[in-house]
Amino acid sequence: MRWDIGIDLGTQTARMAELKHGPVLSAPAALAFREGNPAPICAGDIARRLIGRTCEGVSVVHPLRDGVLENNLYAARMFQWMFKRSEGVNTRRRFGAMITCTPFARPVQKEAMLTAAIDAGAAEALLVRSDAAAAVGAGLDLNSPEAKLLVDVGAGKITATLFTFGRVAAFGYLPYGLNRIDERVRRILRSDFGYRVGVLASEEIKNTLGTAMPDKAPKDVIMHATGINLAKRMPVNFDVETKPVLDACEDVVGELARLVNTVVDSAPEELSADLTDAGAVLTGGGAVMTELDRRIGQALGIPCRVADAPEGCAIRGLYRIMENPEAYGAMFMERQSRQVW
Ligand SMILES: Nc1ncnc2c1ncn2[C@@H]1O[C@H](COP(=O)(O)OP(=O)(O)OP(=O)(O)O)[C@@H](O)[C@H]1O
Ligand SMILES: [Mg+2]
Repeated sequence: MRWDIGIDLGTQTARMAELKHGPVLSAPAALAFREGNPAPICAGDIARRLIGRTCEGVSVVHPLRDGVLENNLYAARMFQWMFKRSEGVNTRRRFGAMITCTPFARPVQKEAMLTAAIDAGAAEALLVRSDAAAAVGAGLDLNSPEAKLLVDVGAGKITATLFTFGRVAAFGYLPYGLNRIDERVRRILRSDFGYRVGVLASEEIKNTLGTAMPDKAPKDVIMHATGINLAKRMPVNFDVETKPVLDACEDVVGELARLVNTVVDSAPEELSADLTDAGAVLTGGGAVMTELDRRIGQALGIPCRVADAPEGCAIRGLYRIMENPEAYGAMFMERQSRQVW
C-alpha cells in the first residue's frame, strides 16, 4: 500500500503531510456546527476564532479530548476537511492514510478513528504510535540498540517512552496535557479572584507566565488580561499575578516529572544507563514551556533537550515513516480497508 496522506490529529492541532510534498497543513483541530446540520459551517483557524464567540445554535467542537477520540462524526468531518485540502487526494481516486494514534487509546477508539478516515474517503487507513512518530521527527534513530527517552508534551496528553532496537522498552502516560493548566488557571481566577476568562485568554496567560521551575520564577511579574468581573457582571481589564499560574503549572509539571521517573525506573538497568549519555528529548507544543527541559533533566539526573520545532515533530516523523514504512513496522497499530462489495 502507498501511504499518500499522513495525519497527526491532536487534541488542539491537526497536521497533515503528503507523500509528494511533505508536511503541508497545520490548523486548529476545531469544527463549528449549526444545530441540526451534520455538515460543519467552518473548520480550522476560523472555527478556533469562534471559540467563546458563538451565537445561539452554533457550537465549536473538537474530535479529540484528552488525547483520544471522543466523537467519530467530528473526526470524519475533520479528516474530510483535511483531505479536501490535499493535492494528492484530489488527483488520486484511491489513497491510503497513515494516522498517528496515542498508544493508550482503547480498541473502540482506535476502530472509530480508522472508520472515520475510511468514511472520509481513504481506501485504507493505518494507525501509527504517536510517540514513535514524534521520536522519528525529533531525529532519533529508533532502530539502533541504544535507548532513547522521548517525552511528548501535548495539549491533551503527555507520554514518556523508552525506545530500543525499534521497540518500546517502557511506556507511561498522563491522560491530560498542558490544557489542564489552562483549566486550572480559569478555575483559580474564578474562585479566588472573581474573574471569568475565556479558553484562549487562559492559554495565553499560561504561555506567558507559566514555568516549570516555580522557585526560580520572578514573583513581581504581572500580565494584563481581559475577563468578566463576576461581582459587577461587567467586562474588565485586570492584572494576573504569577502565583496562581505557577500553582496551576506545578500540579501538572510535578506529575510529569514523576511520570518520567517511573518510566526510567521500570526499564532494564542497561537501558537506563544508556540515557546518561543520550539524555531525554522533549517534543510537542508544550515542550517549549519555560524551563521544562531543565526540570525534567533535574528530575532524572540526566541531560534533557527540546527537539527542534517540537510542535511539528509528530507530523515530520510521520512523513518519514510514510516514505519508508518497512523500517517502522513495529510501531504500527491497527489498520482497516474500505470494504468493496
Ligand atoms: N510557550 C508555551 N508554554 C506552555 N505551553 C505551551 C506553550 N506553547 C504552546 N503550549 C501548549 O502546548 C499545547 C499544544 O501542544 P501540541 O500542539 O503538541 O498538542 P496536540 O498535538 O494538539 O495535542 P495532543 O498530542 O496532546 O493530542 C497546548 O496546551 C499549548 O497551550
Ligand atoms: Mg500531538
